[in-house]
Amino acid sequence: MNIGIDKIDYYSPNQYVDLVDLAQRRNIEPDKFTIGIGQEKMALPLLSQDAVTMAAMAADKILNDIDKKDIELLIIGTESGVDESKASALYVRDLLGLPSSVRAFEIKEACYGTTAGLQMAYNFVAQNPEKSALIISSDIARYGLDTPGEVTQGAGSVAMLIKKNPSILKLENDSVFMSENVGDFWRPTYSQYAFARGKYSNEVYIRFFTELYKQYFEKNNNGIEDISALLFHIPYTKMGKKALQAVEELIPADKYADFMKRYESSTILSKNIGNLYTGSLYISLISYLENSDQVEADDKVMLFSYGSGSMGEIFTGKVQPGFKEKLQKKKHLDTLNNRRQLTVDEYETEFKKELEIKDGNYFVGNQTDDKFFLEQIKENERIYKSI
Ligand code: COA
Repeated sequence: MNIGIDKIDYYSPNQYVDLVDLAQRRNIEPDKFTIGIGQEKMALPLLSQDAVTMAAMAADKILNDIDKKDIELLIIGTESGVDESKASALYVRDLLGLPSSVRAFEIKEACYGTTAGLQMAYNFVAQNPEKSALIISSDIARYGLDTPGEVTQGAGSVAMLIKKNPSILKLENDSVFMSENVGDFWRPTYSQYAFARGKYSNEVYIRFFTELYKQYFEKNNNGIEDISALLFHIPYTKMGKKALQAVEELIPADKYADFMKRYESSTILSKNIGNLYTGSLYISLISYLENSDQVEADDKVMLFSYGSGSMGEIFTGKVQPGFKEKLQKKKHLDTLNNRRQLTVDEYETEFKKELEIKDGNYFVGNQTDDKFFLEQIKENERIYKSI
């Protein structure tokens, strides 16, 4: 049975800071951010936007009433959960108006969570071919002001509808994966900000990729000529590029040059939005399918998923005929071009804002035009609204 991504879209907050402005404020040569790290703009959420509202915003873009009726599994991959106990998926199920006959929960393993969800969705549809699964990544990447990681922040979500006979990408069920207990990036429950050993994280990411790259071809008895593009988890766009460079010697020169060109197409959205944590691999898939003029039906794309801590997985998918009609290239570029640019002062002010909960209550209100928002905390409970 063919199972895979039938619909996919993303959401990111409508305001951003330009990283050239940020570099200048931090007395850093702008080329370090735009070339050395490979990022141009960074989305910033407001207090009324969080992992729940962003997840609902992305999913709302792809679902119609017929889709909603058939969904029996909803998984949200996030490392920015809003509650230590209750899953964000329960709020999202409610906001989207999904039936109560949905198995809804949250999954966490740094930036790998969504891939775990995707693989569970594959198995779910294999066992329940008439049903579908909604898999959403939703994250706010925060390292703190004036930290080395500051330039690799961002926010957003990606929603995917997984079903049989998919219109966009058929998953090939050929994964290789590995895990290790590594201290490259983590966020303790008492901290709003992530801790990262950035360069070490890069090393582990490349080591996982090169190891899995070899394992993939051994396990599946095929070669790089079968693959049309290599897509990566890209918290910042230089990271995937370095992983690709790490296997240059294993790839014929013309094929490698072609991979690099295709990789550039996969980075357009990330460069302008920033780090989506669990969604970073999947926004690179959207960016590639929309922005590369080389993609053709039946192309096999290889995806490398990495979550610090660490978990890595390589899998492939086959592009489906008609995939283009299911994508939104123009809409996405228009949205990116019409966002509100924040000055660095405005960015810093917004960044420092916190929910100042008094006696378990705080009124937020809707600070954006978004359909879904966090309205208030009431008796220590989050109250979401839709307009
Ligand atoms: N022009 C062009 N490139 C420049 C430059 C300039 N003026 N100045 C520096 N650079 C390059 C450096 O050569 C380096 O490139 P390289 O990595 O190819 O060698 C790059 O910019 C970054 O410089 P570096 O000094 O390493 O930056 P840093 O110490 O500020 O750290 C990160 C950069 C990405 C490691 C840091 O932002 C970070 O820790 N982010 C968190 C990332 C993370 O761990 N996420 C989890 C991943 S899954």
